[in-house]
Amino acid sequence: MPRRPALPLWSSLALDRSAAASLQDQIVRYFRDAVLSGRLKGGARVPSSRVLAADHDVARITVVEAYDRLVAEGFLTSRPGSGLFVAATEGEPKVRLVAGTSRHQRKRMPKLRRNEQVFLVPERPLGLLPLSPGVPALDHFPWRDWTRITARLLRERPAHAMGYGDPRGDCGLRQAIAEYLGQARGIACTADQVIVVAGSQQGIDLTARVVAAPGAEAWVEDPGYPAARAALASAGLGIVPVPVGAEGLDAVKGAETAPRARLVLVSPSHQYPLGATMSLRRRLALLDWAERADAWILEDDYDGEYRYGGRPLAPLHTLDRGNRVLYLGTFSKVLAPGLRLGYLVVPEAAIAHFAQLKAMTDRHAPGLDQRIVARFLAEGRLAAHLRRMRVLYAGRRAALVQALRREADDFLAVDDDAGAGLNLVARLKLRADDVAASRHALERQVHAAALSPYYVGRPRERGFVLGFAGTPEDRIAPAVRILAAAIADQRPPRSRGRVQTG
Ligand SMILES: Cc1ncc(COP(=O)(O)O)c(C=O)c1O
Repeated sequence: MPRRPALPLWSSLALDRSAAASLQDQIVRYFRDAVLSGRLKGGARVPSSRVLAADHDVARITVVEAYDRLVAEGFLTSRPGSGLFVAATEGEPKVRLVAGTSRHQRKRMPKLRRNEQVFLVPERPLGLLPLSPGVPALDHFPWRDWTRITARLLRERPAHAMGYGDPRGDCGLRQAIAEYLGQARGIACTADQVIVVAGSQQGIDLTARVVAAPGAEAWVEDPGYPAARAALASAGLGIVPVPVGAEGLDAVKGAETAPRARLVLVSPSHQYPLGATMSLRRRLALLDWAERADAWILEDDYDGEYRYGGRPLAPLHTLDRGNRVLYLGTFSKVLAPGLRLGYLVVPEAAIAHFAQLKAMTDRHAPGLDQRIVARFLAEGRLAAHLRRMRVLYAGRRAALVQALRREADDFLAVDDDAGAGLNLVARLKLRADDVAASRHALERQVHAAALSPYYVGRPRERGFVLGFAGTPEDRIAPAVRILAAAIADQRPPRSRGRVQTG
């Protein structure tokens, strides 16, 4: 039988006219894949645009443009007078085109460290669920002022906000923050000392990398903020847990464990998550130790604006005479975490270091958003918003305390003070697994964060960190009932009495 001539490779080009990809894209992808997989060898001649267009019933211009792209990308070369050829490759193409390589790729990725798993993308927006900790009242976000300020700013066509800007942040915003800090928190600083960052999270990361070298030690509060520990660890710092009690972090204990630590991360106004206020005695002891040890203190004042039983407390920064304290604030709690805007106040000697690292990391915060916040502050809208939120949150807190006493008194104890911040801690009165109960409640759309993961090692107490600020009053009691049911399900069958937990 006479041998049939082999079909040219491109006879297998099948164009799908119903596909989302254009015909030109399909031709380009076909030749690219054929070259990369080795089916088309270097030096092979490809059909003329006229022939390919006729064979596949497409406009010639479609093929001409596809070929032009393949030539520009180096897959084909043109020899004047002879036509188009597959570009010569050295040896066999190295790229393997294997469908479904994601499992293989995942295996090759380094394992996520345990302390980085706090950042795994949640399956649902947890911040909007009742009792979510750390979330302000997003149902009371000041949209009217925000819309008015934004509309006016956009009408001005602010070209300067759309170009590259100062890595320290927009000067108007830095000025407004310095003034706000002077009035609201008693902090004396210049606009030059303010570095606008992408929330506290970036402030912690930049600080760790500016003031300490990988391998240095950092004290953290235990229990403390897991996301902050993760940032310090990912900057290569060794985490040294220092227990906190009713008076806050104890520098004497810290100095016993890690006397040469380079950095201390503290939340003196309202310790996260337990809520203690650091006593003056301990503040002075910490400043004194930092001075002697030549260490830095990063003061995380994430929610110092909110105290329901009196005036907000002065930050540690106001006691610092040795320029040891870097102050960290955020717009996440006074406005919204989605803004991703916060600020550091740094000593003059460190301004250039922070500016340089910020520029290397992400150049600077978004220009338009910074200007909106600057006007919001300068017009006094933040102060007015905070006045309203303090009243609202005091009411929501009272509703939560009342619901806990009414619905969960057998299981949970709450402190009897006026409170502060956006959350409170409800401690388990009996032996039960707070993590399992939290998971159980989450399945029923209630986000009651378990207390034990806030500890670095073995938890000394178990319970829940419950956010009241972001939860409308009518949703509080039903959420507490769900939490109580979740705890009841976790109780070991024979533990009936009130026992020490942890
Ligand atoms: C202790 C503490 N610091 C800071 C923050 C704010 O983080 P960010 O400004 O990155 O949103 C939070 C938020 O939950 C927090 O709990």
